[in-house]
Amino acid sequence: MNKINAAITGVAGYVPDYVLTNDELSRMVDTSDEWIMTRIGIKERRILKEEGKATSDMGAEAVKQLLEKTNTSPGEVDLLICTTVTPDMQFPATANIISDKVGIKNAFSFDMNAGCSGFLFGMSAASKFILSGKYKKVILVGADKMSSIVDYQDRSTCPIFGDGAGAVLFEPVTEDLGIIDEILHVDGAGRKHLHQKAGGSLKPPTHETVDAREHFIYQEGQPVFKAAVKGMADVSVEMMEKHNITADDLAWLVPHQANLRIISATAKRMNLNPEKVMINIQKYGNTTDATLPLLLWEWENKLKKGDKLIFSTFGAGFTWGAIYLKWAYNPR
Ligand code: UT7
Repeated sequence: MNKINAAITGVAGYVPDYVLTNDELSRMVDTSDEWIMTRIGIKERRILKEEGKATSDMGAEAVKQLLEKTNTSPGEVDLLICTTVTPDMQFPATANIISDKVGIKNAFSFDMNAGCSGFLFGMSAASKFILSGKYKKVILVGADKMSSIVDYQDRSTCPIFGDGAGAVLFEPVTEDLGIIDEILHVDGAGRKHLHQKAGGSLKPPTHETVDAREHFIYQEGQPVFKAAVKGMADVSVEMMEKHNITADDLAWLVPHQANLRIISATAKRMNLNPEKVMINIQKYGNTTDATLPLLLWEWENKLKKGDKLIFSTFGAGFTWGAIYLKWAYNPR
């Protein structure tokens, strides 16, 4: 029997219509387009404004588009994994809600949370189900309504985040394509620099936690920045060295979109021509679990079968890592 690999065989994405510009943010907090562009590299981000809409609604839009594009019927899906830090509710899993909204009835589904590395860790998990031989069609959705946990009175975090969702289909292939290798890390001690203080079992919601604004993102920017630059650059270079991939060989770096300076530092350590780096942070900001699939969605028509890609992320946890993948199809 031929060896099976797990390949991405389709991509879809969804961003809400509402565009929150730096100019609008400058009227909400003491900031400016110039500061945000120089320090972070974000011009605008999308916000899910509609009353009653949640992470699952964006995820469901992406999955519906994915099923259509890949001619997959909901009944064929074996497993749906959703990676998110902004689930619709504490339970049940947002993955179950997405499955229900798109008519996936014969599959099992669950959520994963690995901060901004959620989608990367999700790629690892999804591929293992394919490699088991038992599951043939696994959908991985990365979706976040970051605006639901962003404090729009905190100028140090509110410019960074945006809302969005992306989804990919994993299927088995027998060619030398798909996920080739992964290097994944966590350091739970880093949690003190980036977390949500209340709302979990440690500090359930009370009037006091709401008054103290503890249900929003808490981030100490500088230690996270330093760890992100080191973490993403180290694993990406390690992956290149491990597989003898030169900067010329690599078709694309697919980096988490948290700060343009972090992305540029990573690409520089890899000696990569900036034209080989997928970047859309200026349009969408940091959509947490959706950054990687939104990049693939946007770049899909430029990707060719056999293209060597390195995915690299850093996020709350701390979590970080790199995945080396060979793209499995030509533009359709
Ligand atoms: O995806 C999850 C992982 N997260 C990340 O990777 C984020 C990593 N961190 C960062 O991207 C950056 O640290 C930030 C973008 C969050 C902040 O940029 P920074 O260059 O590290 O700025 P800073 O926090 O050192 O602040 C510098 C100055 C401060 O003023 P003083 O103390 O020097 O007077 C801040 O108060 O900039 C001030 N500042 C702002 N000024 C205008 C902070 N936010 C703003 C703002 N507009 N929005």
